[in-house]
Amino acid sequence: MCGIVGYIGDKKVSEVIIEGLRRLEYRGYDSAGIAVVDRDGTLSMQRSAGKLTRLCEKLEKNPIDHGTYGLGHTRWATHGRPTEENAHPHTDNDGKIVVIHNGIIENYLELKKEMESKGHLFKTDTDTEVAAHLIGKNFDGSLIDAVRISIPMLRGHYAFLVIAVNDPDKIVAVRNGPPIVIGLGEDENFVASDIPAILPYTRKMVFLNDGEIAEVTRKNLNIYDFNGEKIEPDVQTINWDPIQVEKGGYKHFMLKEIFEQPRAVRDTLYGRIAPEEGDVYISEINLDEEQVRKINRIIIDACGTSWHAGLVGKFYLEQLTGLPVEVDYGSELRYRDPIVNENTLGLIITQSGETADTISAMRILKEKGARLVSICNVAGSMASRQSHGVVYTHAGPEIGVASTKAFTSQLIALLLIAVHIGRRNGFLKKEEAMNILEDMMKLPHHMEIGLEHLPGKLEDIAKELSNKRDFLYLGRGLCYPIALEGALKLKEISYIHAEGYPAGEMKHGPIALIDENMPVVALAPGDKVYEKMLSNIEEVKARDGIVLALVDTNDTNLIGKADYIIELPIVPDLMKPILYTVPLQLLAYYIAVKLGADVDQPRNLAKSVTVE
Ligand code: AGP
Repeated sequence: MCGIVGYIGDKKVSEVIIEGLRRLEYRGYDSAGIAVVDRDGTLSMQRSAGKLTRLCEKLEKNPIDHGTYGLGHTRWATHGRPTEENAHPHTDNDGKIVVIHNGIIENYLELKKEMESKGHLFKTDTDTEVAAHLIGKNFDGSLIDAVRISIPMLRGHYAFLVIAVNDPDKIVAVRNGPPIVIGLGEDENFVASDIPAILPYTRKMVFLNDGEIAEVTRKNLNIYDFNGEKIEPDVQTINWDPIQVEKGGYKHFMLKEIFEQPRAVRDTLYGRIAPEEGDVYISEINLDEEQVRKINRIIIDACGTSWHAGLVGKFYLEQLTGLPVEVDYGSELRYRDPIVNENTLGLIITQSGETADTISAMRILKEKGARLVSICNVAGSMASRQSHGVVYTHAGPEIGVASTKAFTSQLIALLLIAVHIGRRNGFLKKEEAMNILEDMMKLPHHMEIGLEHLPGKLEDIAKELSNKRDFLYLGRGLCYPIALEGALKLKEISYIHAEGYPAGEMKHGPIALIDENMPVVALAPGDKVYEKMLSNIEEVKARDGIVLALVDTNDTNLIGKADYIIELPIVPDLMKPILYTVPLQLLAYYIAVKLGADVDQPRNLAKSVTVE
C-alpha cells in the first residue's frame, strides 16, 4: 500500500517520478505528492488530495522543471484523512529533510509528544511526519548516519525514502517490511516500491531485504544492514516486458488481464511438465524425494483471492497427494498457535509476495519447523525469499487491483505442486498424472474459446442485473471456492453486496434472502455434484430468485428454468474451476463498467496490503 518513487539522474526528475507514480497508482490513490531538489539546493514540493491527476493538474499550473533528484508518493491513508496536508512528502522541523513512507510507525504518538515537548511543530496527523522530524533531529551533516541513528527509535513495519537538502545528490532508502526495489541505470538510478515504476528504464534491479538501508547516488549504490555492515547488492535481471505494464488498447487493465489468462496459464505451465512421463519438474520448489516423503500435513497460508486459490488447492492436494490440507487466512493463522512440525509443508500463496498478514503467518510456520514453498508472481519478493522453495506463476505484472490472471495462474501452480508431491510420495499413479498434464495443456485453448464468445453475452446480462443490490454466488465441490471468488470480484469493483456460498449451505440460512430481486449465480458444471446443484437451482427458482447458470456446453437441463445460461467448453473436473472463473470475472467487470465504477482502482483498496 502506498507507492513510492525516487529518481536521481539527468532525465527530467518530475516527469520520471510522475510517470513512476502513474504505474504504481494501484498501490494507493487517495492523495499524491512530489519533492524535487535543484542544483542550487532549492526544494520544490507539490501535494494534492485525490488521485494523481489532481497533482498533475497542479503541476501544469506550477511546473517543477528543474532538479537533479527527488521523490514522489501515492497514498493509501492509514494515519490521518486523505487531505492535501496529510499527503506525502513530509518534512522535518526545518523543512530540510524530506520523507515519503509506506507502512506504519506504531510508536509515532509517543515520539511526537516527546519532540513536541522540545519545541517541534507538527503540521499533519501522519506517522510519517514524525519520522521526518526524528531524522532531522539526528541530522549532523550525514543523511545516512541520521537515518541509522533514528531507526532503532522507530517501531513498526515501514519502508521509506529520505532526501536532505544539506546532504545533497543522494536518496536514502530503508526497508523494514514493505518492499523497496532499486533500478540501476547508466549515470542514473531509480528507487520504487514496485517493479512497474522502473521497468521502462532498466531491467537491472536490486531488491532490498528487510533490515537494510541503501544510499543511492547517480553513480553508486551502497547497501548496509541496520548495524552499518556493508552488504553486496544482489543484482537481478527482470524478464517482464515493459509492454505488459501498458493497457495495450484495452479500456482497463482488468479487462486486458482477463484476456491474458490463456497466455499466463501457458507460461506458468510450459517448461515444467513432461506429460509422457506423467511428471512435473520445478527445480526451484526445492523439495527432494526424501523431503516429500516426510510431509504428513499441508497448511496453506494466504489472503483474499489467493486464499480462494488455496481452497481449490485443498481439493487438488488432498485428491492427488492423499495428505490432509488446511487452508488458513494469514490474518488468523498468525494469531493462532497452529500445530506445526518439521513434517508440515507450509504452502504460501501470494501474488505480490508482500502481503503483511501472509508474511507474518509464514514466519510463524517457519519458526515452528515447517518447510515452506511459496506460490508467488513477483520475483525477489519477500515471500519468495523467505521460503525454502518457490513456484513462480508467470502471469506477468498484474496492475488491476482486482486479481484475475494471478488467480488462475495460482490454480495451475497448485495443480503442478499436487502432481509433483503426489508422484513422489507414491499416491498418484503415472497414468493419472499423464492424463492431468495432458488436460492442463489443452486448458488455455478452452479458455480462448470461452473468451471469444463470453464477453458479449455477459455484457448484456450485466446491463440487466447492474441495478440489483445483492447477489448470491453458489457452487459445490471444486467450484465452491470459485463462487466465493466471483462474489469477491463483484463487491471489490462494483460495490454491490455479494455473498459466495457452498450451495449445500444455502438451506441453512441464506435461502431466507431469496426473492424476485436476488440474482443467484449458480456454477453447475457437469461434475459429480451436478445433480445436487440442479436441486439447489430449483430451490432458488421456487422462491422467485433470478438464476444465472453457468453450465457445460449443450447442457439443456436448465433451459426454461434458469433466467440466463452461460455455456462453457467441456473440460475434465480438475480444470473446471480455472475455466469457470473467467465468466465471473467478466460479469463483475461489465457490471462495474455499467455502474461507472473505477474498475482498476476501486475505492478503499490497494493492490498489495502491506499493513496489518
Ligand atoms: C484480489 O482481487 C484482492 N485485491 C485481494 O484480495 C488480494 O488477493 C489479497 O490482498 C492478497 O494479495 P496477495 O496475493 O498479493 O498476497
